[in-house]
Amino acid sequence: MNNFQIAIDGPAGAGKSTIAKIAAKKLGYIYIDTGAMYRAIGLFFDRNGAWPESHEKIKELVGRADINIGYENGEQVIFLNGENVSSLIRTQEAGDSASKVSRFPEVREKMVELQQRLAGTKNVIMDGRDIGTVVLPDAQLKIFLTADVSVRAKRRLLQLEEKGQTCDIAKIEEEIRGRDKQDMTRSVSPLKQADDAILLDTSDKTIDEVVEEIVKLQKERIG
Ligand code: DC
Repeated sequence: MNNFQIAIDGPAGAGKSTIAKIAAKKLGYIYIDTGAMYRAIGLFFDRNGAWPESHEKIKELVGRADINIGYENGEQVIFLNGENVSSLIRTQEAGDSASKVSRFPEVREKMVELQQRLAGTKNVIMDGRDIGTVVLPDAQLKIFLTADVSVRAKRRLLQLEEKGQTCDIAKIEEEIRGRDKQDMTRSVSPLKQADDAILLDTSDKTIDEVVEEIVKLQKERIG
């Protein structure tokens, strides 16, 4: 493997995508947001009004959902059957649908294959829940980003307020706890720290501090 792969995993609201995006720019790497892929396929299941338990039906739906990514002005955009759905997937509901759909092995199989293909020959920073454990097990640098649930809830509240939405902090914290539980306890590829991942707790750190830490680790690994 000549390309350098950085895998970032961690729970919702730990700062993965913000940090990975900035680090990718600094390093000149490609940033791949795998959560967006699960959000897009969650949207597809929602649109089809279907949360089936039958493997046949899940397989059939997965077969009809074509997920692709592209880049516009350096930002990742996501396509569902050719439609740019980037602006539709950033809601709390889309996150919940993503978490729900990500339990299905048929969905994960398709997403992992796509993600491995995208990371194949390029220098990448990929973030998600199973990147260091399943998608890129040979990544040269693996980070497990986490933060206290109260800190994560506060960050999410600020993000929502910036978008002009009002929300109750207690409700956000409850939702984050629910999502953590769902992502950590599912039977297929649950969220967990890879044995060789470095744990970074971002609770008391600024975004810049964490980015610097990752860039420093990358330099050390490159040698
Ligand atoms: O990172 P995010 O909040 O956009 O992810 C939404 C959901 O997608 C998350 O709760 C679980 C699922 N997901 C996953 O199972 N595996 C990934 N690699 C990325 C996301």
